[in-house]
Amino acid sequence: MKVTVVGAGAVGASCAEYIAIKNFASEVVLLDIKEGYAEGKAMDLMQTASLNGFDTTITGTTGDYSRTAGSDIAVITSGIPRKPGMTREELIGINAGIVKTVASNLLEHSPNVTLIVVSNPMDTMTYLVHKTTNLPKNKIIGMGGALDSARFKYRLAEALDAPISDIDGMVIGGHSDTGMVPLASQAARNSVKVSEFLSEERLQQVVEDTKVGGATLTKLLGTSAWYAPGAAVSALVQAIACDQKKMFPCSTFLEGEYGLNDICIGVPVLLGKNGIESIVEISLSDAEKTKMQESAVGVRNTNGLLDV
Ligand SMILES: NC(=O)c1ccc[n+]([C@@H]2O[C@H](COP(=O)([O-])OP(=O)(O)OC[C@H]3O[C@@H](n4cnc5c(N)ncnc54)[C@H](O)[C@@H]3O)[C@@H](O)[C@H]2O)c1
Repeated sequence: MKVTVVGAGAVGASCAEYIAIKNFASEVVLLDIKEGYAEGKAMDLMQTASLNGFDTTITGTTGDYSRTAGSDIAVITSGIPRKPGMTREELIGINAGIVKTVASNLLEHSPNVTLIVVSNPMDTMTYLVHKTTNLPKNKIIGMGGALDSARFKYRLAEALDAPISDIDGMVIGGHSDTGMVPLASQAARNSVKVSEFLSEERLQQVVEDTKVGGATLTKLLGTSAWYAPGAAVSALVQAIACDQKKMFPCSTFLEGEYGLNDICIGVPVLLGKNGIESIVEISLSDAEKTKMQESAVGVRNTNGLLDV
């Protein structure tokens, strides 16, 4: 199992680290355009191998895509992150060009690769990869919902004063401050709906805190977060590499599911060796259906800025 991570910045390096620590991949290649950066991060991470007990080999390269040849999975984290006060959508001007070029370079050397798109605005970048490559839709996966769901569970555990392992919850919709749809009505503590424990007002606060989860961290850190994004990507990579058939909300190209067409947006999918093995259609309340449609309008507006 060979995994390439393009962009050896905060999220890319964190993702490489979590993949290595989980010890399921034989090789991780980090690629960046900044001279020596990926090589340095790879060497630093390899010097944790004996301490953290993994055998994954991590190598780095400055822009040499031949080193990525034969990758089974590639993660695209290259591009600029947001600064405090910015929305993810504002990154489109720079990141669209980067993502398009990176995807084309990756496919030249790994025609059968499964791509995981992380760069923001993620749903639109996933749509861009769909429109500009000939990869089948099951091999183009946008990562956002796995992270947003982890943030939702964190906020739910906090509100319930419960261990996170007791909590189940999912966020679908667009990966943006306004577009996320945390499924509060279905969130549970050990199969008991959280609405049994939390007032409507408190639950609404959890939903709002979840939606601005990224912005809250960007304000604190001065740039966007990396540990949870890296961990979320590594969970998707592991589900595919180990053919786990695990369910995650991921951005995928829809053809009628959830009443939507010609859009990439977060919905529950099963991940296994074929990438997206299936899209899971769950029942939504009328309010959630409306929010999903509104979210799609936001994603489409950003897609409209693309030159495809
Ligand atoms: N989808 C999500 O849930 C999620 C979560 C966090 C961050 N992000 C996004 O991920 C991206 C990366 O964030 P970060 O914090 O790691 O940023 P970063 O600045 O730390 O790292 C980005 C790296 O990409 C490299 N890069 C730029 N152009 C490149 C190119 N053409 N080829 C190869 N490498 C290139 C840069 O040199 C840099 O090292 C941002 O767009 C951010 O908004 C998405």
